[in-house]
Amino acid sequence: MTIQALSINRKDLFLRACRGEALPRVPVWMMRQAGRYLPEYREIRAKHAFLGVCKTPELAVEVSIQPFRRLGVDAIIVFSDILIPAEAMGLQLELGDTGPNLPNPVRSKADVDKLKIFDPETETAFLPEAIRQIVKSVGPDVPVLGFAGAPWTLACYMVEGKTKEGFATAKSFLYHEPKTFHELLHRIARATIPYLKAQIAAGATAVQLFDTWCGELDLDDYNRFVLPAVQEIISGLGHLVPVIYYTKASHHLLPAIAHSGANVLSVDWRVDLAEIRRTLGPKIALQGNVDPAILFGPPEKIQEVTLDTLNSLGGRGHILNLGHGILPHTPVENAQLFIETGQQVLFHDARPAAQAR
Ligand code: CP3
Repeated sequence: MTIQALSINRKDLFLRACRGEALPRVPVWMMRQAGRYLPEYREIRAKHAFLGVCKTPELAVEVSIQPFRRLGVDAIIVFSDILIPAEAMGLQLELGDTGPNLPNPVRSKADVDKLKIFDPETETAFLPEAIRQIVKSVGPDVPVLGFAGAPWTLACYMVEGKTKEGFATAKSFLYHEPKTFHELLHRIARATIPYLKAQIAAGATAVQLFDTWCGELDLDDYNRFVLPAVQEIISGLGHLVPVIYYTKASHHLLPAIAHSGANVLSVDWRVDLAEIRRTLGPKIALQGNVDPAILFGPPEKIQEVTLDTLNSLGGRGHILNLGHGILPHTPVENAQLFIETGQQVLFHDARPAAQAR
């Protein structure tokens, strides 16, 4: 039986995965799936600046849908960036070819006090608008994902001003002025709740929090500073839709991350999915975790790792994904092979989902 024969409603499948259920097949998408490995994305970027694409709903919609059109991914993530709210909170933001740059970073209590809790329906209206248009364009059967940066990862950029290994300035701020840093994380959390609620109101099926840099902290600091701010966001959303929490290099933090309140934990390839499932139990769904660099390997390697990843959870409470964003020079045919391999594996009785359509 092929996946076409199953004719599965992608949204049902995705939501069932988020609830930890046994699945006829595992939904698959890729972080950063709208991006530079796609020639049609590069074509748009040749004509428009990155932030211009984010802030022009027609362009954001087009690039969000590109990977769905070409690869048939099972979820569409809206095209935007985790730094968009930093700008709406009052920081200057540039996003050039060398990555993000915030020329007036947050370095003091006065800087933190100036950060605005913005109204997402006016200050970042382009984002809910893009979600509404994507939903309209692809219809009700395809899940559309909203997202935001998690407080610590966003704070890393707001304090450091750019990507920097180790984020020493951010850590130094945290160690010297723990109270002010708490206030910064709390303020980001308070701004993020309405920002995500606006995306949910616009039709997001689920939302993902990106905490790329939380693995930089030890368990104690993670528990004291980061976890409460993540919990504040997730509980503030009030179970409107499933929440996926992405963390990288976070093996040492997993016991704490399990208490975030997220329905789905998205992890990288440094952790063993089966081991996390044994430790955390079946209620928390898992997303991941193929190394994006595997997509530079030969077809047999891509298939082998994808199948091993799928088999490690046996098609229960699993969303197949990469462990971090797809890399810019990835051959499109390898991304295609990853998606197709993931979608071809059938697990539990496929009939209910097929009939649910
Ligand atoms: O997943 C998607 O397809 C949706 C879009 C998306 C982007 N950034 C587009 C983007 C998402 C979900 C993000 C999240 C994001 N942005 C994170 C968290 C996930 C991660 O990758 O760690 C972070 C840390 C950022 C901040 C950011 N934005 C950096 C560090 C950079 C520069 C590095 C790079 O990849 O170029 C960006 C720019 C960016 N954001 C690009 C894209 C497609 C590349 C810009 C371009 O097109 O020139």
